[in-house]
Amino acid sequence: MNSPTRHPITAPSAQGSDEDALHRQLTVLAGWRQFVEQTPAPPGLLPEGEWTRLGELERLTYDEDRLNHHARLLVVATPTIRKVITEGRRLSYLNRNADSGRCGLILSGPARTGKTTAITQLGKTLEVIHRQRHPHSTADIPVIYITVPPAATAKMIAIEFARFLGLPTIRRANITDIVEAVCGVCIDTRTSLIAVDEIHNVALATRTGAEASDMLKYFSERIPATFVYAGIDVERAGLLSGTRGEQIAGRFGMVRTTAFPRSEYWSGLIAALEDSLRLHRHRIGSLIRLEHYLHRRTSGMIGSLLRLIRSAAIQAVLDGTEQISRRTLDSIDVDIAAEAAGTRSTTAAKRTP
Ligand SMILES: Nc1ncnc2c1ncn2[C@@H]1O[C@H](COP(=O)(O)OP(=O)(O)O)[C@@H](O)[C@H]1O
Ligand SMILES: [Mg+2]
Repeated sequence: MNSPTRHPITAPSAQGSDEDALHRQLTVLAGWRQFVEQTPAPPGLLPEGEWTRLGELERLTYDEDRLNHHARLLVVATPTIRKVITEGRRLSYLNRNADSGRCGLILSGPARTGKTTAITQLGKTLEVIHRQRHPHSTADIPVIYITVPPAATAKMIAIEFARFLGLPTIRRANITDIVEAVCGVCIDTRTSLIAVDEIHNVALATRTGAEASDMLKYFSERIPATFVYAGIDVERAGLLSGTRGEQIAGRFGMVRTTAFPRSEYWSGLIAALEDSLRLHRHRIGSLIRLEHYLHRRTSGMIGSLLRLIRSAAIQAVLDGTEQISRRTLDSIDVDIAAEAAGTRSTTAAKRTP
């Protein structure tokens, strides 16, 4: 992985409904393995002469590759990603030798601040390390990634585990049977990291939610793995309050994800994204010069920034301008939340003398 202020790590990410599709794909073993194995290389840019001489069909294929690349761009090693990976690795070493009282990690923050990206990158990193250490144990399942469905019950959570592992779950199956099967497979396949996303969907204040939380606790006692949770404003969701919450809080470290302030990390993020563009007329450095503007447009939200830059890059290929300018960016809407905040800060800025 490269430095956050200079360069990117490669991994796919997507946006909008593609993002949902990506998450669905990650929550089953085959999709997860594909994600772990792939390190997509950005397509190369043809020299000017060759590019202008491309036939119609060749150009279509060439542009199609670049459009696909710009729809994903890359995963940048932001401070959050680095922290989550370092902490996660540290815990997984500590927990490896612990019989009980294993510790975990919670990622908490607003929507679209990069929580899912960070825990999936942690999972990917730990699985790659496991595969290097045990090259012959191809059947191992070192990492599990699940998302908690809305208003989750204990059984729904057990079924998510089973679904990831590809275990048959009949709706009428007894919950104890599902849990036993899941624990058995995890122990046999040396599962060492369990990432649970959308943890805010466990509503501890309700009886169903409390049972769902107990289910997770039971899994964490039976399976010798490190548990990592990610969710929207977990403190406010009540996951850490009450007796059950305090038990969780006592064993889990917390990483908070937030909007980026304007800092060297924000410029570093933009520089890494700009570096990954594959546009023929784009001058490197022109996007960085717009860092203040980009911060205002997106309120420093990484999700909004990615959406804006991906859209602008795609547009630049489609309309043939082959560069991202202030005008291109102006013509693209970010999400409603970021636009609203952006307008507020512009109005505020105008008011200040
Ligand atoms: N480190 C990163 N590098 C590049 N893109 C990122 C990074 N973190 C998040 N993103 C992008 O921002 C968007 C929102 O990220 P996501 O991880 O889904 O946020 P959350 O889970 O907090 O809602 C996604 O499109 C994702 O690809
Ligand atoms: Mg998420």
